[in-house]
Amino acid sequence: MVSFQPALHPQRVPLSGGLTGAAGQEGPAGSYATRGSRATSSSGGAARERQVGVGVLLEPFTKQRWETLSPGRIRRLFYRATVLATGAGLRRGRLGLMLVIAHVSDTHFGDDLGAAGGRAAAVMDHLLAMEPRPDVLVVTGDVADHGLPHEYDEARAWLDRWAGPREVCLGNHDVRAAFAAGLGVDPNAVLEVGGVRFVMLDSLVDAVDGRRVDEGSLGHDQLAWLEEQLAADGRPTYVCLHHPPLTINLELMDPFRLLDGEALAAVLTRHPHVVATLVGHAHTMGVTSFAGRPLLIGGGVVSAVTADSERLPQLWYGAPPSFALHLVDDDGRVTTHWRALPQS
Ligand SMILES: [Fe+2]
Repeated sequence: MVSFQPALHPQRVPLSGGLTGAAGQEGPAGSYATRGSRATSSSGGAARERQVGVGVLLEPFTKQRWETLSPGRIRRLFYRATVLATGAGLRRGRLGLMLVIAHVSDTHFGDDLGAAGGRAAAVMDHLLAMEPRPDVLVVTGDVADHGLPHEYDEARAWLDRWAGPREVCLGNHDVRAAFAAGLGVDPNAVLEVGGVRFVMLDSLVDAVDGRRVDEGSLGHDQLAWLEEQLAADGRPTYVCLHHPPLTINLELMDPFRLLDGEALAAVLTRHPHVVATLVGHAHTMGVTSFAGRPLLIGGGVVSAVTADSERLPQLWYGAPPSFALHLVDDDGRVTTHWRALPQS
């Protein structure tokens, strides 16, 4: 398993260790320092440090009143006091934020219109210009359009612009061997960033007689592997794959969903620390529920797929490239902001 702990950012103040510990330390690739430190705050030691900090900042509270404060109230007071003391955080709307996931899907490098590279570049430009940048990049498949080596060369150059932690899923347009050779990515990786885990699944069904298979499947062995991974670690976990594991009322894509979605749901149901499932494939910005938790569709870089009821092309290549930012609060709550970028 690969593990990343975001380093402290010079403009951020860590929750643990008081108000002076982060000064002068440079985080990699503009990562969120306060989120990194908050990611470790569930330990007893860090929690005690947090309370010490609050106590110092909130001297006017009597001991009796202090003891009646709920944990949530303490947390809000602490954030407020931190902002007042440092001026950091609130102006960016980042207070309480632990981790930001950049979720990009369906780049389709090498597409027949020749537009994929520019659209993917626009998304990466946007992510790299964020300050602070997201903590982790998750790409949920269909990296290449035809699964050709030169398409993965282009994709690798695009991915390598991202210096932070990243993981990539296989999609139905990908070709397993070329994907592995071109990107050097293990399709069944587990990534840990700041105390949050990402389990990557491979839902690609290999081509039959040279014909691409657009439906997805995980299979018994991979589901057993997933079960092992989830049982081995109880930290908050996002399960990532290409195919939506259920219908999403999108006529063009629903027939090509994950075929063993019910078996996946059965695994996730046994592991309540799975926060959400991240998918691609549908080329739309959407959310539904799956196994009692959010299922978040990461948009589509190369195009959008629209519903039959809309007066738009079903495969809309004029749509702006879109992606998702999943914002994880330090109480575990996840908020998704989808973004559609202007086209140059
Ligand atoms: Fe796909």
